[in-house]
Amino acid sequence: MTTLTNKRIVLGVTGSIAAYKSAELTRRLRDAGADVRVVMTRGAEAFITPLTLQAVSGHPVHRHLLDTEAEAGMGHIELARWADAILVAPCSANFLAALAAGRADELLGAVCLAGDVPLALAPAMNGKMWQDKATADNIRLVSSRGILLFGPDDGEQACGEVGTGRMREVDELVTNLADLFETGSLTGKTVLVTAGPTREAIDPVRFISNHSSGKMGYAIAAAAVEAGAKVLLVSGPVSLPCPDRVTRIDVESAEQMLAAVEAGMSGVDILIATAAVADYRPVQVHAEKMKKQGGHLSLELEPTPDILATIKAAHPKVFSVGFAAETTQLEEYAQRKLVQKGIEMIAANLVGPAATETGGTFGSDTNALHLFWANGNLRLPVASKDKLARLLIAHVAQYYSEYQFTPRVSGGKVVKLVERTKPAG
Ligand code: PMT
Repeated sequence: MTTLTNKRIVLGVTGSIAAYKSAELTRRLRDAGADVRVVMTRGAEAFITPLTLQAVSGHPVHRHLLDTEAEAGMGHIELARWADAILVAPCSANFLAALAAGRADELLGAVCLAGDVPLALAPAMNGKMWQDKATADNIRLVSSRGILLFGPDDGEQACGEVGTGRMREVDELVTNLADLFETGSLTGKTVLVTAGPTREAIDPVRFISNHSSGKMGYAIAAAAVEAGAKVLLVSGPVSLPCPDRVTRIDVESAEQMLAAVEAGMSGVDILIATAAVADYRPVQVHAEKMKKQGGHLSLELEPTPDILATIKAAHPKVFSVGFAAETTQLEEYAQRKLVQKGIEMIAANLVGPAATETGGTFGSDTNALHLFWANGNLRLPVASKDKLARLLIAHVAQYYSEYQFTPRVSGGKVVKLVERTKPAG
């Protein structure tokens, strides 16, 4: 399957009759998962309107180099930095010559010069123009600079002649572009990650919560994006920025987290529950700030919903990974949770004073994980949370691909686990 999931493509459109195909190309690039920003030259506007390309790309079309308003939104340097690849389709003989000469008098030329990403041209011109020595020289020049050529192809041309110069078919261009990117282990998959703590209100100013900073969960969301997945992050209150290319939904309480996860589950392949969900909440939430009184105060607590167990029961085919935060008997408790929650894998970590190596885990930049699944386990020694997240995602991707959706655990009994001999990392 051709995929450009999470990829950001600048599509340059120049003055050629084939420009009418750019609307379909934009649509196909988006169908393949890409975010597309269109840059048009003045010549292109004679063949297709910016409004058409704005409608199909879902973003305003970039047209003028010296437009202060547009530059303030996303300037040419920012646009070049934003892109994972630039495709000029159609690429006219005139734009090819401008590129060969290194000209930046139009926005597209400036973006191509400023870009440090793969740049591909899909030439489209009359056969005689394609064969002209000047065009041949320009092609040699741009090729020597590492610029890629997708086409042109042979066939009937707009001018009625038959020969080389036809813009490559739209579907083929999408495939050519997708081939530029290495396929990640989770390409085409959707991953939902929960992260951070929950807050269970006592009154309008007080709550029950824990020390989770969200760092572990956010690192996992970023690693899943890196592996090619589409990622939804349901996050409790933390002070971290949303990782690039992740869709974040902010929640406060366990109840809200359950609702947000339920609402986001459509199309999800893998659920990774890193959130430190409060296990109990006050039975009564006071509408006014509770006044200090003499003597002791007792709060009656009730259990919060078990988000992971509830979602797994409702979506048994979703490969589900839990986390177990323990201060003691890590392996025993983690294996018990693996079975009780009916999930495929659990990542156990020590928290609090027992986790001296990782600085307590909560809030620290490092951690150590012990992964358990029905018939195996694997230790991931102390490392940064970013590194551990990448390792975890690599193992999840591997086991997900081997996963048969047959029950691995039954009757609430912990199955015997086998230590993997493969070293972590
Ligand atoms: O956020 P950091 O500061 O980086 O710290 C990372 C972390 C310690 C929070 C993280 O690595 C971690 O261990 N997260 C899980 C914490 C936790 O709540 O563990 P638990 O053993 O209480 O819960 C087991 C699993 O059930 C977890 O996947 C949890 O998300 C889930 N759960 C728990 C209670 C509940 N009501 N609903 C749930 O879904």
